[in-house]
Amino acid sequence: GANILTCSFKELEAYPTIQRMQELGHRKLVLASAGNTARAFAHAAVGSDIEIYIVVPGSGIDRMWIPEKPTGNIHFISMAKTFDYTDAIRLAERIAGQPGITSEGGARNVARRDGMGTVMLDGAVTMGRIPDHYFQAIGSGTGGIAAWEASMRLQADGRFGKQLSSLHLAQNLPFAPIFDAWQHDCREIDEEVDVHNAKQQINQMYTDILSNRKPPYSVPGGVYDALMSSSGHVYGIDNSRARSCKNLFEEAEDIDIMAPAAVGVAALVEAVELGRVKADDHILLNITGGGVERLKEDFDLCKIQPELHIDSLDVEIKEILEILP
Ligand SMILES: Cc1ncc(COP(=O)(O)O)c(C=O)c1O
Repeated sequence: GANILTCSFKELEAYPTIQRMQELGHRKLVLASAGNTARAFAHAAVGSDIEIYIVVPGSGIDRMWIPEKPTGNIHFISMAKTFDYTDAIRLAERIAGQPGITSEGGARNVARRDGMGTVMLDGAVTMGRIPDHYFQAIGSGTGGIAAWEASMRLQADGRFGKQLSSLHLAQNLPFAPIFDAWQHDCREIDEEVDVHNAKQQINQMYTDILSNRKPPYSVPGGVYDALMSSSGHVYGIDNSRARSCKNLFEEAEDIDIMAPAAVGVAALVEAVELGRVKADDHILLNITGGGVERLKEDFDLCKIQPELHIDSLDVEIKEILEILP
């Protein structure tokens, strides 16, 4: 196993990102997270010389634990329940605009993509070939881009076959901007999406972890290009399907999985039903998060307490920085 103690694939991107920041001489890092990324980065930063500022929307606060005592370089900024992941991203961007503070960079961060791409490398090494299909639940879709880039490297290497993995990316309805754009053969996501409507839809999701209002979809080398180049598919998974697929997986594999991972499982079930995958195809299903219940049996989990709570988007960044080191 990968020994991922914060229980999500976000840990695969956290260590290389922190290492890259250190190599580049950056000492203060800011990021926004719906919870899992926050945990992964906090865990990877424990005891390091990087000051890390983590902005988490209201719905992510309960997910802020790590399997050890947090150290003083981890600064957690919580937002009120009325704010979503995108509000957290915007606040983090404003903090990153301050001198000496670096943004973690999202999909543009090569350390992040290469870290996540290791799932594809491991899958190919284990199977002895590039998988025919790669399944993953997405919000931003960065993991999809990472899998695509890794499969192109394997293709160039030549030892694992010549065919790229076909991407099968899954979003949770009703808030599924990448699914909507892809269904309409569109490279652009409709920027006109009413913010109020988006928030309502996000509230109805089985897992708001998959809500990202500004995913790197249209940018060159982004999700759209990855899907086109790999003859990919996007799935819109409703809540009841996601729930039943969580049970299906947990019963079959005897380990708990996170809600987003269940959305990925549901995409595989749908692909089988639609005949998009065949019985003897090589399939890589990225279970992006799981094992929290199992982890609790072996570890005492420590809550990270917020140093600051934000209940208005009009907050002055200088005020935030005055309170935090
Ligand atoms: C467990 C899990 N699966 C999938 C995702 C989706 O990742 P992304 O938003 O980068 O596409 C996340 C995001 O935090 C996650 O925590």
